[in-house]
Amino acid sequence: MTFEEARRVLEKNGQGHVLEHWKGLSAAERKALLTQVAGIDFKAVARCAKVLGDNASAVKRGKPTAPKVASLSGAARRRAVAAGEKEIAAGHVGVLLVAGGQGSRLGFDGPKGAYSIGPVTGASLFFFHARKIVALSRRYGARIPLYVMTSAVNHEATVSHFREHGFFGLDEADVVFFRQGVWPGMSDDGRIILDAPGHVFMSPDGHGGLISALKVNGCLADMRRRGVKTLFFFQVDNPLVEVADPAFIGLHVLKGSEYSLKLCAKRDPHEGLGMVVRRGGRFDMVEYTEMTEEMNNRRTKDGELYFKYGSPAIHVFDRAFLEREAAKDMPLHLAHKKIPTVDASGRTVKPSEPNGWKFEKFIFDALPDARRVVCLAFDRADEFSPVKNAEGKDSPATCRADLQAKWRRLLAAAGVQVPESMPVEIDPAYALDAADLARTGLVLRPAK
Ligand code: UD1
Repeated sequence: MTFEEARRVLEKNGQGHVLEHWKGLSAAERKALLTQVAGIDFKAVARCAKVLGDNASAVKRGKPTAPKVASLSGAARRRAVAAGEKEIAAGHVGVLLVAGGQGSRLGFDGPKGAYSIGPVTGASLFFFHARKIVALSRRYGARIPLYVMTSAVNHEATVSHFREHGFFGLDEADVVFFRQGVWPGMSDDGRIILDAPGHVFMSPDGHGGLISALKVNGCLADMRRRGVKTLFFFQVDNPLVEVADPAFIGLHVLKGSEYSLKLCAKRDPHEGLGMVVRRGGRFDMVEYTEMTEEMNNRRTKDGELYFKYGSPAIHVFDRAFLEREAAKDMPLHLAHKKIPTVDASGRTVKPSEPNGWKFEKFIFDALPDARRVVCLAFDRADEFSPVKNAEGKDSPATCRADLQAKWRRLLAAAGVQVPESMPVEIDPAYALDAADLARTGLVLRPAK
C-alpha cells in the first residue's frame, strides 16, 4: 500500500489522524505503518465505532433460568462412549485449541501454552494437550487434526515451541496453526489510537474470533477436505481436560446437537465461570462479570445454588454449525482499558486511568443460534483445574496438585499406591487412563 492509498482509505473512514506523525517517521517506520493500515478491516472498525457510539456492548437482556443438565452413567454412558469412539475412528473428529492469550496474569512472558506445568518434568501445557491426541490417534487408529489458534503476539513463539519439541509426537501435517484477528483500540470518539507515532494499537479480537479466523485461514475448508464433522474445543489453560472425550463426543452425536457444553458445579457462588442459561426459548451464556449478586446467590428450596453449573469452556461443535456462524457477525464486548497514546509532541504516554476501548468476541455468543444444545455435567476433580493466576486459586500450585491427585487415582485404580510425598507425572501418550496403565503391566512399587 502506498502513502496515497493509505491516506485515502483512512480519510474515507474518518481516521486520517493515523498519519499525522508521518513526517517524523523513519523509512522503516513508514513501511511498518503502511503494512498495519493495509491489514486493518475498516468494516469491522466502523462496526466497533457504532457499538461504542450506541453504548451497545453485548450485555444480555431478558430473564434467565437454569438449563437442564444431563449426566452420564451406566448403559447411557456406554452407548455414548461407543458412538464417540466410532466418530473418532471414522476420522470425523478434530480438535480446536484457543491459545491466543499471553500468560500475563501468570507473570509469564510467552504463549501461555508454553508455560511449564509438569510437576516432575516441567513439560508445558501444550505437551499435555498434544500427547492426549497422540494417545487417542493411536488408540482409534485415526488422524485427529489439531487446530491451534494463536494471536499476532504469540504466533511465532507458539510454532517454535511445537517445532522444538518435535510436535510432541504429532504428525506435523495434522497440526494447523492460524492467527486470530486483531482490532485497533479506540478512544471514546471512535478514533483509532496510536500507541507510538508510527504504530496503531491493536489487540486480539477475543476467542470468539475463532469462528471468522477458521474461515479466513481456510481451516473450515481443510476440515471439509479431511471429512472432519465434529470439533472438540478447549482453552489452553486447563491441562486436566479430557481432550476429545469419547463420551462427550458420542452424546453430542447421538443427540444431534450442534453445540454441546460440559458444565461443572461451581466451587462457590462467585467463582469466575460463565453460566449457561435458558432465555427466550434459547440457550445462552451469562459471563461471570455479568452475573448479578442475586443470580450468584439464588438458592433452590433445597438450599442448592439455583445457577449451580459453571462453564469450563469445554465444548463440542458441529462443523456445519461453525460454517453457518462464520457467515454472521458476532456480538461485540467492550472493555475500557489503559492504552498507551501519543501526546502532541509525539511522545508515548501511559495513562493512569482507562482511556480507550478494546473490542472482543466471545465464542459462547454463538450459543443462542444453535438449533440443538446438550449440557453435560462432569466431575471437575478429574477434568478442570485451570492455570490463571500466579498464586492462590487456579494457580500453577493448585493445578499441579490436582494433576498429581488425578494421576494418583489412576495409579490406584491400576493397583499402584503412590504416597502423597512422592511426585508423580504420567505422559498421556503412555497412559490416558487406568485401563491403559493396567495394560502397560506397570509394576512400579514405591519403596516403603
Ligand atoms: C474464560 C471464559 C469463562 C469460562 C472460563 C473457564 C471468557 C470471556 N470467559 O474466562 O466463561 O468460565 O474461561 O476457565 O472467555 N483467548 C484467545 N484469544 C483471545 C482471548 C482469549 O485465544 O483474544 C484464549 C486464551 O488463550 C485462553 C481462553 O481463550 O485459552 C480464555 O481466555 P481468558 O481470558 O483466560 O478467559 P477467562 O477470563 O479466564
